[in-house]
Amino acid sequence: TWTPDSFVDETVTELKAKIGDDKVVLGLSGGVDSTVAAVLLHKAIGANLHCIFVNNGLLRKNEFSDVLKQYEGMGLNVKGVDASARFLDELAGLSEPEAKRKAIGKVFIDVFDDEAHQIEDAKWLAQGTIYPDVIESVSVNGGPSATIKSHHNVGGLPDFMKLKVVEPLRMIFKDEVRRVGASMGIDKELLGRHPFPGPGLGIRILGDITAEKVRILQEVDAIFINGLKENGLYDKVWQAGAILLPVNSVGVMGDERTYEKVVALRAVESTDGMTADWVNLPYEFLQKTSNKIINNVKGVNRVVYDISSKPPATIEWE
Ligand code: XMP
Repeated sequence: TWTPDSFVDETVTELKAKIGDDKVVLGLSGGVDSTVAAVLLHKAIGANLHCIFVNNGLLRKNEFSDVLKQYEGMGLNVKGVDASARFLDELAGLSEPEAKRKAIGKVFIDVFDDEAHQIEDAKWLAQGTIYPDVIESVSVNGGPSATIKSHHNVGGLPDFMKLKVVEPLRMIFKDEVRRVGASMGIDKELLGRHPFPGPGLGIRILGDITAEKVRILQEVDAIFINGLKENGLYDKVWQAGAILLPVNSVGVMGDERTYEKVVALRAVESTDGMTADWVNLPYEFLQKTSNKIINNVKGVNRVVYDISSKPPATIEWE
């Protein structure tokens, strides 16, 4: 019978035999799959695993530094690369969702390729691909693998994609990945993280992206997500986040008329992201969250809650 411990033992043995003394490059995303893959490989080959964690500037508030610290605490050999400015430059003026995804994917590949070149004699590229990614071919969970797949036809293969591929999780499902992670002692909070798309806040800022819009959405998102955690709601929701809408609305603050941004909150129930229902969050929670956002985030004067299910809506707005 399958147990997380036996999976870890067998996989570590296999990885050792397969990889030997070679060096391996792995892109960490902060998500469950790439983290569990990294810890498994680290168990097998130690310092020969070289992890790269790219900040695309579209992560959640403080996520880059918090997660990087967490990885270092786990003993992983990880290089954090802050490429926020490169991503924002490439995105300037783009507002069409697929154009934004392409731009983000392209910069990610360039940055990752530059970094991979600095790891001399690397022979393998490790990925956190899990079984549903293998059968659907498009990851719903974000991370480098999804980004790479949809963009590898742009102008020839980058060098890191010529490496041999090792995917220790390709035969198991998400719940098994979480159990494997837990059996290796990975932090519960990290293992319970909601899925987050590879293009990050880039597809939650509708229309064009600026540094100021990213900052506003990070603040709003942090208030919403922390509120879910503080009220014991985070684990009851499959995925949640905030969306910055490309409209201004009129409001009133003291004696002043305001004309500021509208944000939407979204929280869904799902098992695989293919279908989803909006979550019936308590009115009291929504009320408090809305007040907190409007009172604390400059530039936002209205909050709405998305009550659309998938299909026919999608989870993301772009
Ligand atoms: P939708 O919006 O299609 O989202 O209902 C389903 C799941 O996929 C995630 N998603 C993405 N993940 N790159 C990713 O890595 C993307 O471009 C992307 N678009 C959507 C979304 O967050 C949800 O979990």
